[in-house]
Order: sequence, then structure tokens, then C-alpha cells
Amino acid sequence: MQVTVVGSGYVGLVAATCFAETGNDVVGVDIDKHKVARLSKGISIIYEPGLDELLTRNIAEKRLRFTTDIKQAIQSAEIIFIAVGTPPGEDGSADLQYVLGVAKQIGQHLNGYKVVVNKSTVPVGTAQKVSETIQSELSLRHVTIDFDVISNPEFLKEGSAIDDFMKPDRIVIGGSSERALSLMKKLYASFLRTDNRIYVMDNKSAEVTKYAANAMLATKISFMNEMAALCDKVGANIDQVRFGIGSDDRIGKKFLFPGIGYGGSCFPKDVKALVRTGRENGLNMKILEAVEDVNDRQKKTLFGRIQRHFENKLAGKAIAVWGLAFKPRTDDMREAPSIEMINLLLEAGVTVKAYDPVANQQAKDIWGDRVILGSEPYQILDGADALLIHTEWNEFRSPNFETMKTHLNAPVIFDGRNLYDPADMHTLGFTYFSLGRPS
Ligand SMILES: NC(=O)c1ccc[n+]([C@@H]2O[C@H](COP(=O)([O-])OP(=O)(O)OC[C@H]3O[C@@H](n4cnc5c(N)ncnc54)[C@H](O)[C@@H]3O)[C@@H](O)[C@H]2O)c1
Repeated sequence: MQVTVVGSGYVGLVAATCFAETGNDVVGVDIDKHKVARLSKGISIIYEPGLDELLTRNIAEKRLRFTTDIKQAIQSAEIIFIAVGTPPGEDGSADLQYVLGVAKQIGQHLNGYKVVVNKSTVPVGTAQKVSETIQSELSLRHVTIDFDVISNPEFLKEGSAIDDFMKPDRIVIGGSSERALSLMKKLYASFLRTDNRIYVMDNKSAEVTKYAANAMLATKISFMNEMAALCDKVGANIDQVRFGIGSDDRIGKKFLFPGIGYGGSCFPKDVKALVRTGRENGLNMKILEAVEDVNDRQKKTLFGRIQRHFENKLAGKAIAVWGLAFKPRTDDMREAPSIEMINLLLEAGVTVKAYDPVANQQAKDIWGDRVILGSEPYQILDGADALLIHTEWNEFRSPNFETMKTHLNAPVIFDGRNLYDPADMHTLGFTYFSLGRPS
């Protein structure tokens, strides 16, 4: 099939590459000509395991190309995916200017029946807005051209995006046109060979489904963070509580880890946008407001402990940070909890030295020279008064603690991901702080 994906970021690039991998002719569009130039040479613009190989192969086999020429890309397509960003506006609602901007261009260049697919995460009612935007451009052109708008939210996780896309848990398709639905089912058939996991629903339900999924996951995180805070107060152990509750199938074992708060390009903005949608419809989303509050508190929890450990005398101290990206296996720093933490440390006069296996460049874009970035985890421990762990990269799970001690000024670890056993750390001679577990 002829597929166009508008927006070549984390979602659009993965979608375009995976559609090409299953044999479709795919054009990826972006307004950023530097991105398009790099992608056209097969150079990925994001870190995503497995992506480079697929990208190179599909470009070489001429099933995938990238362009800034949206007119040609629209006109050659049977299906057009909109996968541009929907960042939070000032009031927390999703900013639809990019999505509706693309819809406008589709209306300007439409040359025959096409399915227009909202893959971006968009608030309820956006399919209708996209449809109206296209229609009004067609009216300006005094032409009648048939098209359908489908809502097809994306559930991939950065860090395992290729696998998630190639073997999805589910494909949610919102729409009512049989013609469009049958094209969508045909496109996705290759990803669903073992089991038909397509859920067809109306556009609005599909739009709400995406937000509800992210809101539920964010709720789980804040719930466990709140339980960890309680464990800290009463001397219980969140690990034992986690096993105790996770063994109940109705609760499940996954996503029950406490940490330094959720971040990334999705949960924070999607929770905010859903709260906003509720408010616009006269509904206080009380649970989600609490989820946000708990998350804001959680992002500062370890900073409080650092302050107490150093008796509020942080100025002049040096702290090393392992992990900057909002989670492992990605270079995405959008809304990473490390940003707030490091800003607090810098404001307090701390020298911050940091290492992330893939996000150092993104960190440089944020802090410039204000944070000292190292290319090797042990080297940044030199002269540091403590280590702070922010992202649970595999390489941090079983480090050489004796080597660490020789580099650090003092054997002190603030672990925002509960990577190590507190008793082991005590035996090894570390002062060790984690979340929801007795030190
Ligand atoms: N990142 C994720 O893990 C993830 C997962 C599921 C859903 N989503 C949703 O998918 C959407 C895209 O997210 P992302 O992380 O890929 O964003 P992104 O910022 O990485 O990519 C968006 C791309 O769109 C391009 N763009 C903007 N306006 C354009 C236009 N008019 N024409 C062509 N290109 C244009 C930008 O240059 C950018 O490259 C968002 O709504 C997001 O919420 C993201």
C-alpha cells in the first residue's frame, strides 16, 4: 500500500519504518529539513534499539524515503498518518496547532479518496476537527473529494518501540467508514498474524482510550510512589509490599516499581490534557489531579534526602548522576525527572557531573556547560560527594562497588530506582538511600 506518515519523530519514524518493513511503499514527511537530510542517508535522529538496521534496509530497498515535500507525499498516498507532536499548551490542554496544520495541508492538496489517520495523541473530538479542517480547505478550492478520518492512537513504548509496533498488544481503530476500516485492517494485517487484536470503535472512544491508558499507567506509578512514601514513614519495605500485591491477578506484577516520578513526552502531558478535558466538560478529574500532585512531590523526594544528608549545606558539594533520560533505552529527555532534580542541585550550588549511555547530547542542549558530562560512568565519580541514580540502565544494575568507592569522595548513594539491596550496600560500606525500603 502507499502510505505517508507526516512527522518523523519518535512515533512517525518508527511507524514509517515498520510499515515499510512489512512491504508497503512509505514516505516519511517532516518540516525539519535537517532531520529529513539525515534520515534520507539512513542516519536515525533518535536512539531506539533496532531502528537503525530497519531504517537502512528499507531505504536501500527503496520502500522508505523521507521528504519535506508534503504535497507530493499527500497526493501519492492511499493512507496518510498524522504523527506530529501535541505538546501541552499553557493551560495544560494538548496544543493541536501541528495536527490541524497538517490537516489544512491535506485539504489543500487532496487529489482523490484517502484515509487520514490521527496517530498523534489527541483530545476527544479531534477527528471531527481534522475532518472539518480538511473539508473547509476543499470548500475553498470549490472541489468535492471524499476522505475519511480514522483515529488510531499509538501505544508503543520508547526503548522497545520497534517490538511494540511489530507485535502490538492491540490496535485501536476509531471510525465508522467501512471503506476506511477495511484499508486499515489490510495495512495492519501483517502485524497481527497470530491473533486479531484489532479493536474497532468510534473515533471518540479511540481518542479517550489512549488518554485513559496513559492516565492508568501514571496512576499506578503515583500509587506505588505514595505507598513507598508511607513505607518510609512506618518502616515497611515497598519491595515486599510489591510482591504481596502483585501476586493478585487483578492487580498484576507489572508497573509496580516506585521511583523518582514519571516523566517523558507522554504521561505528564497526557495526564494534564485529560484533566483539562474533564474540566472543559464540567468534570473534576480528582484522581488524576492527585496523580499529578503525588508525581510533583515524588520528583523532589530524593532532593529532600540529599539536603538532610548534607545538613542543608549543599553549596560547594559535588554530586555525580547516573542516568539522565526519562527511562532506559531511550535518549528522550522530555520532562525527564532528572531535569528538575539537577536544576534544584545547581540552584543549591552543587557541582553536577553526569553520565547517560545515550542522552549526553540532549543533556548538553539543556544545560550546556553547567553540568559536566562524562563518557564513562566511573570517571564522573571522581571527587563526587555522592552518587545519584536517576535512570535504571542495565549497566548500572551490577557495577563494581569497590571501584566506585575508590573514585567517590564518600561512599554515598541516593538511588532513585531501587537498584541495589540495602543490606548488601550496608555490608559493602555504603551509606545508601532508596525509596520505601529501610536503609
Ligand atoms: N513518543 C512516544 O513514546 C509516543 C508514544 C505514543 C504516542 N505518542 C504521541 O505521538 C505524537 C508524536 O510524538 P513524538 O514523540 O513522535 O513527537 P516528536 O516531537 O518526536 O516528533 C514530531 C515530529 O513532527 C514534525 N512536525 C511538526 N509539524 C510538522 C508538519 N507540519 N509537517 C511535518 N512534520 C511536522 C516535527 O519536526 C517532529 O520531527 C504525539 O502526539 C505523542 O503524544 C508519542
